[in-house]
Amino acid sequence: MFIRVLRDYSLCTSCGFCNTISRCLNDECVGCLSCYFACPYEARRITVDESDRKMISITVDGIQHSVPERITIKEAMKLCGYEVGIYPNEGKVAAPCSTGGCWACMVIADGEAVRACVTGVRDNMDIITDVSQKTPLRIIHGPEPHSVGGKATPWFEGRGVKYIEVAIWAAGCNLKCGSCQNYSVTYDNSSQAMSPIEAARNVTYYRRIYGVNGMAISGGEPTINKRWLIEYFRELKRLNPDKNARLHLDSNGTLLTPSYIDDLVDAGVNNIGVEPKGIRLETFMNITGINDKSLAERYLKTSWEAAKYLIDNYRDVVYIGIGIPYNPAFMSFEELAEIGDRIVSMDSEIQVCVLDYFPTFRRREIKRPSYKEMLKVKEILNGLGLKYVIVQTVYGHIGP
Ligand code: FES
Repeated sequence: MFIRVLRDYSLCTSCGFCNTISRCLNDECVGCLSCYFACPYEARRITVDESDRKMISITVDGIQHSVPERITIKEAMKLCGYEVGIYPNEGKVAAPCSTGGCWACMVIADGEAVRACVTGVRDNMDIITDVSQKTPLRIIHGPEPHSVGGKATPWFEGRGVKYIEVAIWAAGCNLKCGSCQNYSVTYDNSSQAMSPIEAARNVTYYRRIYGVNGMAISGGEPTINKRWLIEYFRELKRLNPDKNARLHLDSNGTLLTPSYIDDLVDAGVNNIGVEPKGIRLETFMNITGINDKSLAERYLKTSWEAAKYLIDNYRDVVYIGIGIPYNPAFMSFEELAEIGDRIVSMDSEIQVCVLDYFPTFRRREIKRPSYKEMLKVKEILNGLGLKYVIVQTVYGHIGP
């Protein structure tokens, strides 16, 4: 069964997102679903395409295959028997975002580096999957200075300084949160991609301009292109060898397996924030838009285990923060308390930052939690024994 995506003009607001940020890269629909996931007003419909399709010839790693026209390289590879994964080193190609931002799915097509998830196949296309000799790429926004920092920015560094760190944001995410707090970065497939070396140089330059020690990367989800991220941190460490340099990763933790964490620390990362999106599976699925139950279970488990692994193994060398997304539309105080209990069981002195998820993207109907509500959140978590709780509020960060 083939699909194509159509615009639903009854929902389209002509916001322009699909012409500027998340653009179609093909002459006709190849069913990549990039626009379907990115449209803030859900004005795209998946339909079954019953029109005739020719079979075309492609070559993958020197082997010739026959595949239908008007499909992505990713789909063609699946039809040719290649496994396409999400976690690093699972599958011949990893396609964790499938919306064109992360470049983890890079292959060489007719001599050119392209993204397999959003690029359509052409007749006689020659595809090479080994990109180990090519520079990894990623769409990056920033750097920009931050005056308050993220969930793992050490709370005590923020006192009396104008800027606390310089941050960049990586496009592409493996989650599809309806309340994505940074969707114009997450779904950007149209900006020029950058090498890890270029990004590290930019960040280092702006570190000096703003006189900060913290250099953060957030997203989107930074971890979904592992090769890019490890090379970025290695270069950043080389350019910033001083002991004050804080190499900060903010992640949803869903891909942070123990070996990934070991590789990050080895590359110089000394500040990691992990934000499990809830503790109950149904909440996680509701927040993240991941409808595949077994994948959602794996993501949720991996993110909590990442927090524990970091605490058990790297407490002395990595400043760790745990983020909690809060909004009463998707989380009760009861579940918040369950999360608090779980963190206390790992380490009651770990920094916890609760983010007051505001209405945006596809969840514009929710209300931003009030200042009073966020103080209540803080009271609940402190009451469970957590010592360093920060809550994000309309008036800025409160705590510890
Ligand atoms: S999976 Fe293709 S760009 Fe992210």
